[in-house]
Amino acid sequence: MNDRTEFSGLELRSLITPEGELRLWLEEAPARELAADEVLVRVEATPINPSDQGLLLGPADLSTLRAGGTPERPTLTATIPEARLASVAGRIDTPLPVGNEGAGHVVAAGAEATALLGRIVATRAGGMYAHYRVAKAAECLALPDGVTAKDGASAFINPLTALGMVETMRREGHSALIHTAAASNLGQMLNRLCLADGIALVNVVRNESQAELLRQAGAAHVVDSSQPRFVDDLVEAISATGATLAFDAIGGGTLAATILKSIETVLSRGAAFDRYGSAVNKQVYIYGGLDPSPTVLDRSFGMAWGIGGWLVTWFLAKIGPQDAARLRDRVAAELTTTFASTYTAEISLVEMLSPDVVRAYAKRATGEKYLVTPSAMREP
Ligand SMILES: NC(=O)c1ccc[n+]([C@@H]2O[C@H](COP(=O)([O-])OP(=O)(O)OC[C@H]3O[C@@H](n4cnc5c(N)ncnc54)[C@H](OP(=O)(O)O)[C@@H]3O)[C@@H](O)[C@H]2O)c1
Repeated sequence: MNDRTEFSGLELRSLITPEGELRLWLEEAPARELAADEVLVRVEATPINPSDQGLLLGPADLSTLRAGGTPERPTLTATIPEARLASVAGRIDTPLPVGNEGAGHVVAAGAEATALLGRIVATRAGGMYAHYRVAKAAECLALPDGVTAKDGASAFINPLTALGMVETMRREGHSALIHTAAASNLGQMLNRLCLADGIALVNVVRNESQAELLRQAGAAHVVDSSQPRFVDDLVEAISATGATLAFDAIGGGTLAATILKSIETVLSRGAAFDRYGSAVNKQVYIYGGLDPSPTVLDRSFGMAWGIGGWLVTWFLAKIGPQDAARLRDRVAAELTTTFASTYTAEISLVEMLSPDVVRAYAKRATGEKYLVTPSAMREP
């Protein structure tokens, strides 16, 4: 790379002050020298996932969003309620780059990474809300011919999570799955994956339109938590599938306990009474925090149960590079089918900092994921 200045661009930063103010801005970032195993990616498409919003906005009160700066270099501030400041103590006064994953052309490469030059790659290098991003070649997935940066923008987190759920099921001796917030992008992906692989899946949603969306996509077991018959329907779906493992994206409230109790109801049906309940293990992994309120457990499900956290990056580290590569290869092969993501709107880096746009993507509503296209809509 001879003329580095051609590759300098803007990068988004998120900072929380000790006084409890969230600050977002775009910072000019000069291109730096690449190490031999690094590439420079022109970021053309990067999704705003719920996990990105956690870092981007922290626990800010979005009714206090205030726009500032200039049209080309907007800034955004918001108030962090005092009671929630302790939860972000570790990041106070540190400007953070944001954006877990994304895709774009490789425009420069270190000596050992020249094979990727000119290719469209997906990467989860972090800091993807930027015009350019340096990534390790080993962290890049070269997209097959004909697959665009937009197709590959969400190639890592949700696809590998869906595959990770199925792997976890097999490795931990379960034979079917329960999934909550199941009409999410990830939920729709998991539904396609389970249909393709012949795995029984119980989809838990919170309204009828979400239930219909999944049924239209071929889901056999969909239960709606807003219905009075919810618990009965859940028990019947668990009975029909034999599911003893759930992945819960909601986290807060009583849903995890209701799932464990419903599994226990099925397992103890027709069995002689045992005050410790069924000996079969029931497991819920809380892998998202869509409801940030406390998880409420009434422990009405015997003694053979577990609840834990689950993170895709730690799961991939645990299974090792060979198995992780196997999952990545499957994602690459099925990126526009099983693992396709959909977006409601494409926005620039500048638009990301518009208060109205922030409020829209912060809703995390079904079918309303936003795609940022930093270098496709290059700001002046
Ligand atoms: N642990 C990990 O490694 C990992 C990896 C990937 C994803 N995730 C998690 O997976 C979840 C889904 O991600 P995504 O990208 O697929 O999201 P998404 O497409 O933005 O969809 C979010 C879904 O959650 C629903 N929802 C929002 N708040 C809810 C609440 N309080 N109760 C019930 N449903 C609620 C929305 O339904 P409405 O329209 O009804 O609001 C929508 O269907 C997120 O929680 C994300 O953090 C975790």
